[in-house]
Amino acid sequence: LQNIIICLIIGYLCGCLSTAYFIGKANHIDIRKYGSGNAGTTNAMRLLGVKAGLLTFLGDALKAFIPILLITYVFFKQDPNVNLLALYTGLGVVVGHNFPFWLRFKGGKGIAATGGVIMAFDWRIGLAAFIVFVLSVVITRYVSVGSLLISLLFPIGVLIIYPGDIHMLLVSVIFTVLAFIRHRTNIKRLMNGTENKLGQKVKVEE
Ligand code: G3P
Repeated sequence: LQNIIICLIIGYLCGCLSTAYFIGKANHIDIRKYGSGNAGTTNAMRLLGVKAGLLTFLGDALKAFIPILLITYVFFKQDPNVNLLALYTGLGVVVGHNFPFWLRFKGGKGIAATGGVIMAFDWRIGLAAFIVFVLSVVITRYVSVGSLLISLLFPIGVLIIYPGDIHMLLVSVIFTVLAFIRHRTNIKRLMNGTENKLGQKVKVEE
């Protein structure tokens, strides 16, 4: 239990580094006040362009990817439950990303971070998630649809790779639940046909 708590805290602190917020500030805006109000890749791209979006994605995915690799291959490599600890670290990152204490708990939706978690956790699930994400976004033009789909795919992948491991399955399901909770407004918009499509740019007016 002690190691789980340590991993959650390490993850949470890494997750708090909100790339979209920093990139927004570098462009003299608080990203959370414009567009969808979300501190994430999609909103950074919507408001500040493709380059800002890609940088946000990279930063948010790496803040999950790097600590998980360190936990798995350096700090806890002897621990028999190292894969579970990796999952908890990732969970901490996503919670920190979504609810950063220093931004009054108003962060992002955790999908780029979840992508980094999945990739570090198991590259096969990562590859499947990447393909599902790209295909669904290209077909629907809704990033939120791709986001929700990969959050559903994660526990399925965990179930396939670690069949019978209920603890791992439950932790991976928390990622899905968090993603759906954070996408509540997107889901409402998807249902009434008003969700923003990819490529719709929003002007930032001060
Ligand atoms: O992962 C975030 C994406 O699914 C939706 O972002 O800014 O359109 O709410 P946004």
